[in-house]
Amino acid sequence: MIKVAIMGYGTIGSGVYEVLKTNQQIIAANVGQEIQVKYILDLREFPGTEVEKKIIHDFSVIAEDEEIQIVVETMGGLDPAYSFVKTCLEAGKHVATSNKALVAAYGTKLLEIARKKKVNFLFEASVGGGIPIIRPLYTCLMGEKIQEITGILNGTTNYILTKMDKEGASFNGALKEAQDLGYAERNPEADVEGHDTCRKIAILTAMATRKEVNYQDIYTEGITRITDIDFKYAGKMGTSIKLFGSSRMEEDQVFAWVAPVMIGKDHPLYAVSDVYNGILVKGNMLGTSMFYGSGAGRLPTASAVAADIIEAAKSLNSNIPLGWTEEKLRIAPMETSSHRYFVRISGRYESQKETVEQCLGTCQIVTLEGLNEYAALTEKKSEKQFKQELERLEEKLALVYQGVLQTIRAEV
Ligand code: HSE
Repeated sequence: MIKVAIMGYGTIGSGVYEVLKTNQQIIAANVGQEIQVKYILDLREFPGTEVEKKIIHDFSVIAEDEEIQIVVETMGGLDPAYSFVKTCLEAGKHVATSNKALVAAYGTKLLEIARKKKVNFLFEASVGGGIPIIRPLYTCLMGEKIQEITGILNGTTNYILTKMDKEGASFNGALKEAQDLGYAERNPEADVEGHDTCRKIAILTAMATRKEVNYQDIYTEGITRITDIDFKYAGKMGTSIKLFGSSRMEEDQVFAWVAPVMIGKDHPLYAVSDVYNGILVKGNMLGTSMFYGSGAGRLPTASAVAADIIEAAKSLNSNIPLGWTEEKLRIAPMETSSHRYFVRISGRYESQKETVEQCLGTCQIVTLEGLNEYAALTEKKSEKQFKQELERLEEKLALVYQGVLQTIRAEV
C-alpha cells in the first residue's frame, strides 16, 4: 500500500480525495497496489465528515513521516506551497501539484531537486485542468521539434467570452457565474487580466523548449477591454474573440504572448466554448494536433492530479526525465511579432477613407448600423509598424474625432 498526503483540502484537494475514492479499484489495478490517503493538511477542521480523522495542521507531520511517499499540493499560491513542496522533495517524497503559479515561478528549482533526489515533481493539472497535455509533451511528442503551442488555457475567461458572444451577457455577470461554478481563481484578476494563462503558456513553452521561461518576459493582455460592441462586429464578420496563450518557436527566435484574438470559424480553436480549454500543438513531423477538454473545475483537475499520483506510484524509485533545465529561454520582444489587427474607429468611414488608407494601408472595412463608428481589419504587419501607424492615425483624426476605440489582434 502506498501512503499519500494531500496538502490543501479546497476545491481541487477534496476532488483528489474523491477521485482516489471513487476510482480506488481502477487505480489500484493500474498501480499494482492500493493508494491510501493518510493525512490531509488544512487550516480547517472538517467535523462530522469522513476525512475528519485524517486532518492535520502541522506540516512537519507529513515531512517527517517516512511512510508518506507521495504528497499532493493543492494549496495554491507560493507561500507556504513552495517551502512545503521543496521540503517534501528534499525528504525524498514525490510531489504532484495543480499549482501553476508554483510551477511557473519555481519549476526549475523543484525539478532540479527531484532529479537529484531521484523522485518526481509532477504537474499535469497545472495546465488545461483535466486535459492531458504535460505528459503527452514528454512522452508521445518527445521525438518532435515543437514549433507552436497555442491554447485557450483559462476556463473562466473562455466562459465569460462565450457568454458575451452567444448570450450578450455582461462581463461582470458572466464572471460571477464562473466564480459560482468554482472555475475562477481566488483572485479573479489572475483570470481576467491573463496572468493565469501567462503562467500556463510559460510552463508549456518551457516543456516544449526544455529551457527555463521567465513568465514575466511574456507579453500579457487580458479580456477586460473586450466589450459587447466588439462581439457585435465579430458576429457580423462570422468571427469570435478568444483569449490565447501562444508560443511560436521559429528557427532563431521564440515568441510568447497572451492576448485576446479575433478568430474565424475555420480556426480549430473557434469551437472551444464555455469552460473548455483547447490546445494546439504543432510539431515538425506531427503537423498539428489538438488537445481538448475540461480546462478547470474540481473533478477534471483532480483527475489530472490522480494521474500524476499513479505515475509517481509506478516510478517510486526513479526520476522520470521531464521538464526543463536552468538554461534561460530568450523571448523575442512583442513588437517584433506580426499579426493582423481589428481596429474600431469613431466617425464615418466615408469621410476618413483616405486617412485610414494612408495610415493603415489596405483594410477590410466593417460597419454596424446605428453606430457612429466603423472597424478596419488590417493586413498582417509587425506590432512595431502597427503602433506607429496607429499613432499617425490618431494624430490625424484627433482634431475632429475621438479616434481609435479598440484594437484586437486577429487571425482570420
Ligand atoms: N482559474 C483557472 C481557469 C482554473 O479558469 O482556467 C484552472 O486552472
